[in-house]
Amino acid sequence: MYNVGIIIASDKGSRGERIDQSGELIAKILTEKGYHIEKSIIVPDEEKLIYEEMVHMTDDLHVDLIVTTGGTGFSLRDVTPEATIKACDRMANGIAEAIRYYSLQITPRAMLSRAVSGIRKQTLIVNLPGSPKAVKEALDFILGSLEHGLEILTGRGGECARR
Ligand code: MTE
Repeated sequence: MYNVGIIIASDKGSRGERIDQSGELIAKILTEKGYHIEKSIIVPDEEKLIYEEMVHMTDDLHVDLIVTTGGTGFSLRDVTPEATIKACDRMANGIAEAIRYYSLQITPRAMLSRAVSGIRKQTLIVNLPGSPKAVKEALDFILGSLEHGLEILTGRGGECARR
């Protein structure tokens, strides 16, 4: 079982002006797949606060996976990718590329997500867009491969099959 931290980047959500649906949905989908949600938090769209939460979840809580939602678009307040890049030791761009590749077949607006993915120590960090629709589409597509990546990252089995 993998431990997960969920970060909902939302100015309105953090002020209680919008009820979060995407974080709830991430928790529901991952719980159904056998993941344990260690912590879920709504933070304003502030690079420093998002970064600090990523550091806390990785360095103190030792979660295996951090999933963020929101703050990946073009608004000046959208800074989740910048916080993620700062938190990561190594980027794992393939995951963000895969999400955009799949999502572009559903909506051309997927090109507007600047989401990234990467690794801090032994924690994988994946950005998802803010809408519940986008969250579901992205998670449905990546979860199978993500699990294999987590096996390798955490050293819990999962050698790549050699042909
Ligand atoms: N990806 C998927 N799979 N489905 C979507 O509906 N919406 C896009 C894009 N990615 C979308 C998607 C839109 S409209 C935007 S503006 C960007 O994600 C950024 O969203 P965010 O600012 O909420 O992170």
